[in-house]
Amino acid sequence: MAKNALPDHVAVIMDGNGRWAKKRGLPRAFGHREGVATVKKIVTHAAESGVKVLSMFAFSAENWLRPAEEVGFLMKLLDDYIASESRLMMENNIRFLVSGRTEMVPERTGKALRELSALSSGNTGMTLNLLISYGAKDELADAVRHIARDAAEGRLNWRDVDGALIRSRLYNPELPDVDLLIRTSGEHRISNFMLWRIAYAELYFTDILWPDFSEKDFDAALEDFAGRVRRFGKTDEQMENRG
Ligand code: FPP
Repeated sequence: MAKNALPDHVAVIMDGNGRWAKKRGLPRAFGHREGVATVKKIVTHAAESGVKVLSMFAFSAENWLRPAEEVGFLMKLLDDYIASESRLMMENNIRFLVSGRTEMVPERTGKALRELSALSSGNTGMTLNLLISYGAKDELADAVRHIARDAAEGRLNWRDVDGALIRSRLYNPELPDVDLLIRTSGEHRISNFMLWRIAYAELYFTDILWPDFSEKDFDAALEDFAGRVRRFGKTDEQMENRG
């Protein structure tokens, strides 16, 4: 039975910052700050592990509905993260991308995101895809709108709309489908995350809260993935004969 090597594309729903803080009687902001420390550790570790793309859900389209103070704090953390990590990303040959409706973020944050994306665009190591102001339904709606406009303006024929065309209109279309999706904190939900690209992802749930998630826990997820049998809708026999 064919087993998997390393996943090319790992995506992470980083959940549990608020509960981590609450357990300690601290304001939620402390959990988010610890969460950023975990992001730094895991980005470095994933790059060293040989993962090609790491997608991290930093701020959802729905997160705008949180109290203004928390939203402001998360944006500030994002600014600080970009400022403190850009040198490390360049040193580690990491390409930085953002997926989401970034026109919603404060101007200074948007500028920092654009600058780091441009600066790191030639890097050939791991790609870090940070999902900010991101919702998968928005992503699909944006893709459909672009396609509809091209059809209305005569640039494409509606008969040519297929999966490959829709895929080509997703955010950062060059990114491959997700192989392994990790969600922390014991929630078993997808939460409007990368719906198109997770169609055949292996799902990995852990009870560990994001601020407590370690390099060892990341390795455990990779190891679990290595033991999964992926059939992509085919039979075991077809998969065995594919080589
Ligand atoms: C979920 O915790 C966490 C988020 C809102 C997204 C993850 C954010 C970070 C790790 C910090 C910012 C990241 C960067 C890169 C600057 P929650 O608040 O939903 O936790 P809860 O479910 O326990 O309340």
